[in-house]
Amino acid sequence: MKVSNLIEKAKKVRENAYAPYSKFKVGAVLETESGKIYTGVNIENSSFGLSMCAERIAIFKAVSEGETKFKRLVIVADTRDVVSPCGACRQVMSEFGNFEVILSNVKGKMEVTNVEELLPKAFDFRKDPT
Ligand code: THU
Repeated sequence: MKVSNLIEKAKKVRENAYAPYSKFKVGAVLETESGKIYTGVNIENSSFGLSMCAERIAIFKAVSEGETKFKRLVIVADTRDVVSPCGACRQVMSEFGNFEVILSNVKGKMEVTNVEELLPKAFDFRKDPT
């Protein structure tokens, strides 16, 4: 799918974000190597620490459907500059390799980066620890 269409899709799904506490709505769209699309939004909870980011929802939806090879992830929020994903999401992304990540905002600003650029020297249990 074209990047501009993925961004539009992320903006649209962002409206489903459940963010009554922070009021900060985030939308994510994940495109797999096989061409499938998984969306995610942030989902907050009265017990704040249980809230989940949009990026992780999209990734977990894909993995739960048997998809672990990702082409690109698009993230959008209503930020002045492009949205910057949290550290926990960066670590979760890094579990699935170095795919493209498109950071954007609802005003149309965008920046193309990738997982390794977002989280250099990520912890990787699969690398021999000795
Ligand atoms: N949030 C995301 O969903 N993704 C990000 O990249 C940044 C933060 C959510 C978590 C919480 O619901 C709200 O935004 C404010 O932190």
